[in-house]
Amino acid sequence: MKITYYGHSCLLVEAGGKRLLFDPFVTGNPLVGAIDVNSIRCDYILVTHVHSDHIGDLETVMQHNPNAVIIGIWEVHAHYSAKGYATHPMNKGGWWSFDFGRVKMVNAVHSSSFPDGSYGGEPVGFVVETADGVFYHAGDTALTRDMELIPMTCPPLDLAILPIGSNFTMNYQDAVLASDFIRCNQIVGCHYDSFGYIKIDHKAAKAAFAEKGKDLILMEPGEKKEF
Ligand code: NI
Ligand code: MN
Repeated sequence: MKITYYGHSCLLVEAGGKRLLFDPFVTGNPLVGAIDVNSIRCDYILVTHVHSDHIGDLETVMQHNPNAVIIGIWEVHAHYSAKGYATHPMNKGGWWSFDFGRVKMVNAVHSSSFPDGSYGGEPVGFVVETADGVFYHAGDTALTRDMELIPMTCPPLDLAILPIGSNFTMNYQDAVLASDFIRCNQIVGCHYDSFGYIKIDHKAAKAAFAEKGKDLILMEPGEKKEF
């Protein structure tokens, strides 16, 4: 599978023959430089929760990808389907088979409301199983023992995308424990550096994972990587 990192928690994963975009937020991230959100092409948008730093560019992306389907918790589906977008509702614990593979919606410990303050359902993470590999996008979350359920209920993970910036989510030290809970040694960091509250020391973060024989990958916005 191929990952393009658009900064913060926004990544495009090309897997199972489809383009899966997570948490479209590019405009307003000072680190993304010249990335043009209008040029992003995707078949699905997976929404972990509806804070503005996760859906800020969702409708812009949908304008350029009118056939894309939004995958989110029930309230996210209700909000966007009422606006005329194609959606697929899920809720925590459930699996669904799509044309790119299977998705399980899993717990995240955080909050979720739309930018106008209206209820956004609960925050979630996704486990995605495709012919090209299995990965977990944790969304915004604290460290939680619920993560231990993932290896008990899902195929082995090849890769996990974990928040590491602290303040709003777990820090990288907790993310090392999370990687133990989910039994995954290849971690892509997200939700760090984008604004002042979540600046991290890259060297120290990588060292904390390396100490446990794990690899923390910190991608530059715009960077593509094959896994
Ligand atoms: Ni959030
Ligand atoms: Mn966030």
